[in-house]
Amino acid sequence: MDMSVYFNKQHLVKHSYATTEDYRVRSDAWESLAQQSISEWYAAQLQDLAFENLLDAGCGLGRFSTAIARARRVDVTAIDIAEPMVEATRQALGSLPGKHEFVQTSIEDAPFSDGSFDLVLANLVLFHVPDIGGAFKKLADFTKKGGHVALLTVDFDWMSELNRFQDHALLKLGFAHDHPALTAPVTNRFCDANIMRYAPQSLRLIRKPWFDGTMTFPDVDGVMNFYTHTMRYKNVAMQLGNDTLRDTAREIVEAYRERTGSLKVSSSLYLYVFEKR
Ligand SMILES: C[S@@+](CC[C@H](N)C(=O)[O-])C[C@H]1O[C@@H](n2cnc3c(N)ncnc32)[C@H](O)[C@@H]1O
Repeated sequence: MDMSVYFNKQHLVKHSYATTEDYRVRSDAWESLAQQSISEWYAAQLQDLAFENLLDAGCGLGRFSTAIARARRVDVTAIDIAEPMVEATRQALGSLPGKHEFVQTSIEDAPFSDGSFDLVLANLVLFHVPDIGGAFKKLADFTKKGGHVALLTVDFDWMSELNRFQDHALLKLGFAHDHPALTAPVTNRFCDANIMRYAPQSLRLIRKPWFDGTMTFPDVDGVMNFYTHTMRYKNVAMQLGNDTLRDTAREIVEAYRERTGSLKVSSSLYLYVFEKR
């Protein structure tokens, strides 16, 4: 069983985002269970920048480009490797002011000329891409001189409680402690600890505000609903082919609530904003 590769193989990523349901469940929780709406916070962070058009690379449900387009008129080009995500963004942008274009493509194969955009967004996507440095450079090349690249990036502790619930459950189910399913989450490929290693020379970091996205779930069902819509859960559960992981994880979540008196899950982020030299 190869459980380690799920996040960074493109065909698997494409499969995982083949419907919007999983990502919608997770996004709704991020929006509603943190102290503040992440998409409104995000748009406010970029409010002072000058831009008339933007590229949303790996747009997902379009939550960030839509939040920006609600706050000001902007031409949006949205791309994603998965067609249902492109469609979801088309619907989210609806008739908001501006000219909007939608292209199903990977970042790697995206067809834009250098200097096409005032602002390029690449939120929570580069940890999925096999060649992170190559894709990051492409995004920088698409940006106009003096323009900006904005990347929402996970904190190292992102989902740490959920990851530990799963590791704990897998150990209880008899997995070896060094089984690949228990190794570090692949979001760590590109997170706050190592992002600058991949930043191209043409970009200068101008700020990196932090967002406290800690989610406080009202009950164990809420945690389980979120958890069973994560890629990390689905990858292993699909290969086990039964409900043992879900049931064991549930016992662990219940014990966590009894011990700590709450159901908090870390999901904090940094927004890296770069200027194109
Ligand atoms: C975690 S979601 C982030 C979506 C959105 N940017 C957000 O922050 O809500 C990752 C998205 O990246 C897309 N994706 C994964 N690999 C990609 C690639 N190589 N090129 C373009 N999109 C990709 C997925 O289909 C998915 O919609």
